[in-house]
Amino acid sequence: MITPELLKPADRQEARLLEQLDPRQFPQHIAIIMDGNGRWAQRRHLPRVAGHRAGVKSAREVIETCARLKIQALTLYAFSLENWRRPKAEIDFLMRLLREYLRKELPVIHKNNIRLVVIGRPEQLPAEVQRDVAQAMELTAPNSGMRLAVALNYGGRAELVDAFNAILERVRHNGGASFRVDEQTIADHLYTAGLPDPDLLIRTSGEMRLSNFLLWQIAYAEIYVTETLWPDFSRAHLLEALVDFQKRERRYGGLTVAKAAGRTAGSRG
Ligand code: FPP
Repeated sequence: MITPELLKPADRQEARLLEQLDPRQFPQHIAIIMDGNGRWAQRRHLPRVAGHRAGVKSAREVIETCARLKIQALTLYAFSLENWRRPKAEIDFLMRLLREYLRKELPVIHKNNIRLVVIGRPEQLPAEVQRDVAQAMELTAPNSGMRLAVALNYGGRAELVDAFNAILERVRHNGGASFRVDEQTIADHLYTAGLPDPDLLIRTSGEMRLSNFLLWQIAYAEIYVTETLWPDFSRAHLLEALVDFQKRERRYGGLTVAKAAGRTAGSRG
């Protein structure tokens, strides 16, 4: 049962969902593919960027809710390596929106003890975005609450390439003739090193694709796809996903059935 200090329900629907939730069975790490901003705008005869702006509101609500529920980690897929193929004006808008978000929300994030990290290849982002992101990470580095990972210029295969190159570099440097790679070595060299693997992956707007997101880390994640477009994804939608997650039986490839609950990286059997 969620106590009122954790989250005050806004209406009867939220109250009903909260009643069904057991905080001991929360996922440790929720990863979200925020999709459908363009379609949301299109349906309203608005430019695509209006969908992105509305999407920031959903991101803010989800971040706040996860922090209140004391979810350990939340990863949001904000900009993929493939997104560079979009029109320049849309890319520029997304970059401006991210900077605007950081400028407005960083004090709130910091006050709520959230630690912000960026995963991806930030070195290929515009210099001013790199600077803002670096400052945000530095400011929130000492925070001990929820870890908020924003995937920016991110690709799952590129992450694996970067991890393997980092491992090779280490071997070259330390001269490790007998060095062997195991799963933990790879996990330790991913952008997400130190974070538990996501145990719940949410994708909005109904697409049944992984879109090159956290390919290694989601090996055992429960996948929840909703038709709701990201700008319409509210706190109640997140609570619905959590209720659904808690009903799942997680098998990890074995016969023993574990009711949905988080496992840390490297702890799989
Ligand atoms: C996909 O919608 C969404 C994105 C490209 C990510 C943008 C996300 C935001 C603006 C949310 C803000 C996040 C933070 C962390 C501030 P789409 O354009 O692919 O939609 P479509 O598939 O309907 O075209």
